[in-house]
Amino acid sequence: MPSPLSGSSVILGVTGSIACYKAADLASKLTQEGAHVDVILTQGASNFITPLTFRSLTHRPVVGDLFDPQSELAVEHVALAQRADIIIVAPATAHVLAKLAHGMADDALTATILASSAPLAVAPAMDGHMYTNPATQENLSKLRERGVTIIGPAEGYLASGLRGIGRLVEVPQIVESLCAILGRRGDLAGKSVVVSAGGTAEPIDPVRVITNRSSGKMGYAVAQAARDRGARVTMVTAPTSLPDPVGVETVHVGTALEMRDAIFRACEDGDVLIMAAAVADYRPVSVAEQKIKKGGERWSIELIKNPDILAEAPGRVLKVGFAAESQDLLENARTKLVAKGVALMVANDITAPDSGFAVDTNKVYLVDRERGVEELPLLSKYEVGHRILDRVVELLSASALS
Ligand code: CTP
Repeated sequence: MPSPLSGSSVILGVTGSIACYKAADLASKLTQEGAHVDVILTQGASNFITPLTFRSLTHRPVVGDLFDPQSELAVEHVALAQRADIIIVAPATAHVLAKLAHGMADDALTATILASSAPLAVAPAMDGHMYTNPATQENLSKLRERGVTIIGPAEGYLASGLRGIGRLVEVPQIVESLCAILGRRGDLAGKSVVVSAGGTAEPIDPVRVITNRSSGKMGYAVAQAARDRGARVTMVTAPTSLPDPVGVETVHVGTALEMRDAIFRACEDGDVLIMAAAVADYRPVSVAEQKIKKGGERWSIELIKNPDILAEAPGRVLKVGFAAESQDLLENARTKLVAKGVALMVANDITAPDSGFAVDTNKVYLVDRERGVEELPLLSKYEVGHRILDRVVELLSASALS
């Protein structure tokens, strides 16, 4: 299953802020995700950026002036408003937010928004004082109460040269927010999915840990895919270098014991547990309080077994495990399927070049009790996430029927 943006009709409203240059990147990313992007530029925005930029990126006409007879929108803005699956205004100035809060319709963008019943998201970008001004805050609350999604703004460097709140959030965050909104009515709507990710880090002393090569990419992709199908997602992650996914409740942990506690808590109202984390099988028996100094030629650490989180998780939740193997892949996966009481095992050969740690693709086999083994082609980790979730949806409906 592709991203929910694929094939969707998106209206991108661009308003007069210096952050307009980022809207070009957004238009490009949305188009790359397979969305049909209709850009509406306000008069203010066209002082910063030209329609040609967006026309070149989206391969579609760009709408400017509502009253321009040359403009496609002059006659068609209601049709455009009605075929939109989602509207995003990025960057959204304080002025446009005020107009939207008051239902004004004096230009192509605000008129189209008023004529549309599609979900609306706005990504504010402005000077910090304009953002914190009570008038802007009141307008934002009004919009929020009406169900508008407010994305950001972020803190950091502002065009004024000052630092503060008011920066347009980064483009990937806007894209993810739109996926989350479009996915709301997906086949996992109403379900609670717990995902684990990353490799646990077991401390030896204040500076050293025992960990593994997991990048966390597979778990993060599963969490994003579940979110994009409407699930409420809690992701429990060991340290990674990845940003928290938008719209996913992310719990950061270090050790296997911390991961177990966080997962069991999240599973209390969970329907599904997907263990993509690489959990350390052992931890040091004791953690030195101070940095251990070098001594003789040899040094050994005594280790003790960690709990098996997947095996011990409540049987009430539908469990999915990963078997990362370097040999006897399917045999080991089948053994773990039974031993850990899981409904589905995702087996991957970590020695294959395009699979396993750090890369964005994975080649896996799905192993379950009913169907046996299904070999999937090499896919992006996000797509692998969806193929796993296709099975989860089937298994959930089968268990609801039984
Ligand atoms: N797992 C777990 N708790 C552990 C170890 C593993 O929940 N202490 C989960 C992993 O997240 C994964 C599945 O169990 O979903 C299989 O993990 P894997 O490392 O392949 O297997 P192990 O049980 O650790 O067995 P071995 O290391 O001997 O292959």
